[in-house]
Amino acid sequence: MGSVTAVLNQKGGVGKTTVALGLAAAAQRAGDKVLLVDLDPQGSAGWAMGVEADDEHLAVGDVLRTGSADVATAATVTSGWGEGVDVLPSSRSLIDREADGHSDATALRLRRALEPLTAQYRHILIDCAPSLGPTTRSALAAADGLLLVVELSALSVRGADAVMDTIEDIGSRLNPHLDVFGVVVNRAPASSTEAEHQAEELTRHMGAGAVWKPFVPQRTVLNEAVGLRAPLHDLGYRAKATVATFDRLYRHLNRVTNASSAATDATDATNATNATARPHRPHRPHRRTEWAHPPMRWVSPFRMPSVGAGVSPGSRPRSPS
Ligand SMILES: Nc1ncnc2c1ncn2[C@@H]1O[C@H](COP(=O)(O)OP(=O)(O)OP(=O)(O)O)[C@@H](O)[C@H]1O
Ligand SMILES: [Mg+2]
Repeated sequence: MGSVTAVLNQKGGVGKTTVALGLAAAAQRAGDKVLLVDLDPQGSAGWAMGVEADDEHLAVGDVLRTGSADVATAATVTSGWGEGVDVLPSSRSLIDREADGHSDATALRLRRALEPLTAQYRHILIDCAPSLGPTTRSALAAADGLLLVVELSALSVRGADAVMDTIEDIGSRLNPHLDVFGVVVNRAPASSTEAEHQAEELTRHMGAGAVWKPFVPQRTVLNEAVGLRAPLHDLGYRAKATVATFDRLYRHLNRVTNASSAATDATDATNATNATARPHRPHRPHRRTEWAHPPMRWVSPFRMPSVGAGVSPGSRPRSPS
């Protein structure tokens, strides 16, 4: 059973898509099957993986509209990166889903649709739009955990706090088992007093174990990979150091998600209600809000049998007109 990870920050341009792509490339190189859900109407992640966002074919907007696992499966395509990496593409109509409102039923549709697909992938990575609106709330409702991507600027570190408030809001209502998998620092400068200060602030705020190492440095090879619509790992020697960074981050993702599912299994087995025993939930000493009640295990009423694999990019099923 794979893990669902929402890659997010409401701040634009911090590297959410870059980190999701780097992790997907590392998963592919490790031989692990991965699905990237492009939950951003910009469609950048899908594009970088060789899949165009359009309104002609079934896409993630149709999944959010219907909550159907069959639609999710039909919309999923093999990426241009080759076998083992699939994409649930974005579409411009995804913007309409932002107008669907904040109801819990709406937010749960993505979870319902993705649940059967988790059996087919080691990881499902959701690349979120730079917002905390309804589509990102859907991602948080669907995810086992979230990965916050930040830069070491005062504004980005400050924004991390607003994301955490939203998570606690959603966590207590929709998805009590949502974990904070961690924080990935992107575009870390080689050395800067201000960046070091912000790194300390982030660690103080989020807890030492929550901030993943290594940091992702500023590297043009990451832009090149997007321009070529190829996995970073295909760029040869000049990408070697950056590949090593993402391979380490990917191993960390595996450790964290393994711990998360083991804790969930243990919680299921004992019917325990105290989620603070989960070892990987970062300790956040300065939070204003603590869990008001011990979280209960959320059991989906929508569990459905597993369905077949997606279709190839050349034969994407059309959206109903
Ligand atoms: N570590 C890095 N080194 C060099 N370029 C980077 C790095 N991280 C991101 N970029 C570049 O910065 C730009 C923004 O990155 P990206 O699209 O990943 O951010 P985002 O948070 O997903 O943006 P949005 O909020 O619009 O979805 C892209 O051109 C990307 O290639
Ligand atoms: Mg993006």
